[in-house]
Formats: sequence, structure tokens, C-alpha cells
Amino acid sequence: MSKADVVIGCFYGDEGKGKVIDYLAADADVAVRATGGDNAGHTIKIDGVKYAMHLIPSGILSGHTTGVIGNGVVLNPGVLLEEVANLRAHGYDMGRYLKISDKAHVILPYHRLLDAALEKARSAKIGTTGKGIGPAYCDKYERSGLRMEDLYACDFKDRLRELTNSRQALICFYDPENTAVRETLAFERVYEGYARYAEEMEPFVCDTLTYLHKALEEGKKALVEGAQATLLDIDFGSYPFVTSSNPTIGGVLTGTGLSASDIGEVYGVIKAYSSRVGEGPYVTELTDAVGDRIRELGHEYGTTTGRPRRCGWLDLVALKYAKRVNGLTALAVNHLDTIGKFDKIQVCVAYDCGGKQTEDFSTSLEFLNQARPVYQELAGGFGDLAGVRSFEELPLAAREYIRFIEGRIGIPVKFIGTGAERTAMLVRE
Ligand code: GDP
Ligand code: IMO
Ligand code: MG
Repeated sequence: MSKADVVIGCFYGDEGKGKVIDYLAADADVAVRATGGDNAGHTIKIDGVKYAMHLIPSGILSGHTTGVIGNGVVLNPGVLLEEVANLRAHGYDMGRYLKISDKAHVILPYHRLLDAALEKARSAKIGTTGKGIGPAYCDKYERSGLRMEDLYACDFKDRLRELTNSRQALICFYDPENTAVRETLAFERVYEGYARYAEEMEPFVCDTLTYLHKALEEGKKALVEGAQATLLDIDFGSYPFVTSSNPTIGGVLTGTGLSASDIGEVYGVIKAYSSRVGEGPYVTELTDAVGDRIRELGHEYGTTTGRPRRCGWLDLVALKYAKRVNGLTALAVNHLDTIGKFDKIQVCVAYDCGGKQTEDFSTSLEFLNQARPVYQELAGGFGDLAGVRSFEELPLAAREYIRFIEGRIGIPVKFIGTGAERTAMLVRE
């Protein structure tokens, strides 16, 4: 009986989870997505080719790993089939390597419209990706959502009609100026589109819970591919500036059907600095030229929406929180090459709240809005890391930077990213 290792984002997403998954997938049989939808964007560069993965697990790029979309995911069929076509064009055998849970909820056209309408009506914007994620999870928890298996049921057309009509009224309520809604949601067209999607997706749909458990029972190597991240978690993030799922360890279980005792290593992924896209508090954000420099050096523009990411120094207070919430056993630190271009690097080691210092994170907005970072300065200037193949070959200052993180958080840094390419990864045993 083998265990499933998990990869989880520690901050506000885009830590380079895709790249770590791609590395681990080299000797994995299965990679499963547990939560979120096409709000995720995982970039992987292989031999100069850039893949932007939104729904299909990045692990599939190994060429021998089965990608599983778990029951906790909200799935937009149009986006899925585009990804399938793109991967097929790159030579991937999707019939063999893609599985979709029959219990995953389906994103319908009105979900995106409602996402936009709600965001427009909000006085304090969340800055959602506009992919309909929140409204799709609302339907799930309100118990009216359509699951993959419902696309093949005899009452599918009736349920789709009922949902589309009732939600159309809701969109008009929140966004009365939206005159296109009637046309976009014209029922027969929506139905025909989804009936076609259903047919195309049918070969992939199965009971993924049983598939995953059997894989572990047969001693196969499984990975859970986190999307979003700890501080975007609906329960453990900076609510309401969060996504609508649990990207933390609990969501890994409920989003796949794996049990707590099936979990092996829990890898937390961070960048050697931090970033956030969308609204909400961000204690170590740099709104000055230094933040701009991090953005340019790290190419910090969203994979999903193209939005410039907010950037700042690494926050060890938040990282300690992510370790607690997820039970992290080791870390992956990406973009060591990027941070190493600064001569001096600041790392946040505590928060100052009205004159009182603390190392304990809280998601209370009042706390986060008044917290000021307390920095410790470390040496940068790591030089060109392109040819470095092991931790021992790194310059002293780079090794000290990594050791500083380990010392403060109390878990090892196992993976170190030194560039965007698949091969730019140092692994420590
Ligand atoms: P994810 O959503 O967590 O998978 O991360 P994204 O793919 O959205 O964002 C991470 C970005 O950093 C992508 O453009 C990656 O190609 C890039 N990246 C990942 N690791 C490294 C690294 O070690 N160095 C550099 N320079 N780029 C990296
Ligand atoms: P990956 O997997 C970064 C953010 C959005 C917004 C908030 C809510 O690439 O790390 P949503 O559309 O989910 O309702 O938006 O969450 N967000 C992400 N930010 N990376 C992601 O995924 C994100 N997924 C959602 O920007 O602030
Ligand atoms: Mg991303």
C-alpha cells in the first residue's frame, strides 16, 4: 500500500506548484487535482515549450502519469476540451491518461456571468478570475449543482433549463444593465453545447475515488496537485478575499476521497519572495520600485488573467501558519535565481501590531491591515545560477538564505528552483 504525496501552495497562489509537480511526476503513476477549477494557472516550461495548465493536472506532462480531476473540482467543459485538444496536438495520449470524477461539479455559462455580476455589484471587490468558481461552489453547497454524471441522466435537460432560467433572473438582479445575458443563456443553445461536451468527455468520466484507492493498493505512486493556496482558502485565508474552496490539506481529502492515512509527504511550495493577484491584505507587499523590480525580474503576470501580480518580500510569519494548517513535511523554494539578483534581501520574521511583535499569523482583516512587517536583512547577489546542479554548488549567500528559512520554519527545503525550465531544480535528499 503506497501513500499519496501532496503539493500545496503556501501563500496567495502562483508559487510554482506546477513546476514542482512536473518534477515529482517523473516517477509518479497518478497526479490528482482536488479543488478549484480553471481559476488555476500552472506554467511549466519543457525544452522551451510553455504549457499553461488550468484544469488538467500538470503531472500528465510526464507522458506516463495519469491525470485525475477529483470530485472537489468545479469543471468548465469548454476549457477542459481546449486543454485536451492542445495536449493531443503535443502528442499526449489523453484517452489513456485522463480521468474525470463523475462527482465533479460542472461550470455552466451562467456561473461566469454571475461571477462578473456579483463582482460588479460589490463595493469591496475581490478581484476574482471571473471563471465562475464562486457561483459554481454556491450551487454545489446549495445542492442544486450539476455533477459530471448528471450530464448523462435522463432529467439533464430539465435540470439545466430550471437552473439556467432561475439564475438568469439573479444575474439581471445584480447587473440590470447586462443586456447580453438573455442571448448568452438562450436555453436551446446552452443545452446543445453541453450535450456535445458531454459526449466528448464521456470516455474520461469514471469513479475516481475507487480508481485512486486501487492505485494505492497496487503500490502505485500518487501525487495530489494543489491549486490556489493556503491564504486563499475559504476557511483559513484572508476571507472574503479568498477563493471558494479549501486548497489546504482538508480539501485534498474531501476533493479526492483519499483518507488522512493515505497521505505521505506534504510539500509546501513558496517563492523566495511573495506575490498576490487580486484584492485583499498583503503584509509584505512592496508598492515601490523594489516591488516593480521583483515583478519584472520574476515575470510576475498572471497565467490565467494576465494581470500584473502584486509583489513583496518573503513572509515567514505566513509560512509558519501554512506549515501548521497543512502539516507540511518539507518545502520547495522557487525563484532563487530571481531573488538572488538583489544585493540585499529582506525577510519578514515577525509582525508589528501597534507596537507589539508577534510571529503568529491571523486571518482577521483588522489584524492583517494593521500588521507591519519586521524584516531581517540577508545577503543576496547570488550571481548566475544557470549551471548550478546541486545545493553544495550554490554560492554561500544562497545556501545561507535557504538555511535561514529552514531554521525559522523547522522543516527541510527539499526542492530549490533556479529557473523556469523543468531542469532548473536542485533536489536535496
Ligand atoms: P503555480 O500556479 O503555483 O503553478 O505557479 P505559476 O505557474 O502560476 O507561476 C509561477 C511562475 O514562475 C511561472 O511563470 C513559472 O514558469 C515560473 N517559475 C517557477 N519556478 C521558477 C524558478 O525557480 N525560477 C524562475 N525564474 N521562474 C520560475
Ligand atoms: P494557482 O493555482 C493566484 C485568486 C483570484 C482572486 C481570488 C478569488 O495558479 O496558484 P476566484 O476566481 O477563485 O473566485 O478568485 O483568488 N486566485 C488565484 N490567485 N493563483 C491562483 O491559482 C488563483 N486562483 C484564484 O485572483 O483574488
Ligand atoms: Mg498560477
